[in-house]
Amino acid sequence: MILVMGAGAIGCYLGGCLQAAGVPVAFVGRPRVLAALRAHGLTLTDLDGHTQRIESAALSLHEAIPPGLAPALVLLAVKSGATAEAARQLDAALPSGTPVVSMQNGLSNAATAQAAAPTLRLLAGMVPFNIAELAPGHYHRGTTGELAVQDAPAVRALQDDFRRAGLPLHLHADLRAVQWGKLLLNLNNPVNALSGLPLRAQLMDRGYRQCLAALQTEALQVLRGANIQPAQVGALPPQRVPPLLRLPSPLFRLIAARMLRIDRSARSSMADDLSNGRPTEIDALCGEVLRLAEAHGLVAPVNARMVGLVKAWPERPVAMSSAAMKKALHL
Ligand SMILES: NC(=O)c1ccc[n+]([C@@H]2O[C@H](COP(=O)([O-])OP(=O)(O)OC[C@H]3O[C@@H](n4cnc5c(N)ncnc54)[C@H](OP(=O)(O)O)[C@@H]3O)[C@@H](O)[C@H]2O)c1
Repeated sequence: MILVMGAGAIGCYLGGCLQAAGVPVAFVGRPRVLAALRAHGLTLTDLDGHTQRIESAALSLHEAIPPGLAPALVLLAVKSGATAEAARQLDAALPSGTPVVSMQNGLSNAATAQAAAPTLRLLAGMVPFNIAELAPGHYHRGTTGELAVQDAPAVRALQDDFRRAGLPLHLHADLRAVQWGKLLLNLNNPVNALSGLPLRAQLMDRGYRQCLAALQTEALQVLRGANIQPAQVGALPPQRVPPLLRLPSPLFRLIAARMLRIDRSARSSMADDLSNGRPTEIDALCGEVLRLAEAHGLVAPVNARMVGLVKAWPERPVAMSSAAMKKALHL
């Protein structure tokens, strides 16, 4: 049995795919999400046109971790700000040594969870694709990519289940380079969230792409200074992405169309966090670049300004044009 800790976009999608492939799954989540699942069941769709349905009666839904549970694996899928609390709950409820894969963005979640759950075995994971909640109980994968997970016997034992679920796992002895490669792509999350646009429309605006390119270029300089080589997570090596983003839109559209599949529904979940007044993961994204810069005596002013913009948004909650964003980032 697999336990999903944090039934939201990622938890419901991954857990749902696994259950649809015959793997028993238990979901722990908030009353709002569980009520939607009880009322509507779980519907999973993707940009390739697949649809999977799990009726509500077949879902194992819980507001807290049920006593006596001994899952083969836990998928930790809460936002970064909720990691420590969720890990404490897992630590209190599960047998010592239970493997937990952090399916979260950023670099630090597995370590944060391990510190809060010393009896469990934390592993890092990376989800490359975008999942959006299109309607209550309906989760949609709007981009492509395959999961990466830190190698461990418990993960290997479940590799066939994940493959059957359409979620092949790439195993790595050390996931850090992959996590940095993903973080470079996630630097678009604040750009997308502040733009107020779906991902595809935002990426078709050259001004927003220039903002992302500046964030990435700066992060790549910091990574070089720290002697970290980020892995390629998307269609291109990380160093080749900023020049592509800066191209004029007609050229970008032509080239991107061949390697970047994003459907019209995809959007960053940071946009939902902003509009729902929830804490964002900005400290786990641009903030991680700042921490690395500081640790190596470097600076990252563009990422620092983006942290400031996201934190200031609740005081003036309006979408930001690409021209205004460029100005605010001093580009
Ligand atoms: N969505 C994507 O496209 C995507 C893609 C790749 C990676 N990721 C990463 O995956 C992680 C999860 O993102 P998400 O978009 O799936 O977030 P999400 O939709 O907000 O789902 C997380 C859910 O977990 C709930 N939760 C938090 N603490 C809990 C606890 N102790 N017990 C039970 N439920 C709890 C949250 O409730 P509250 O809101 O009340 O806290 C929320 O409903 C993040 O690190 C994100 O960066 C997301």
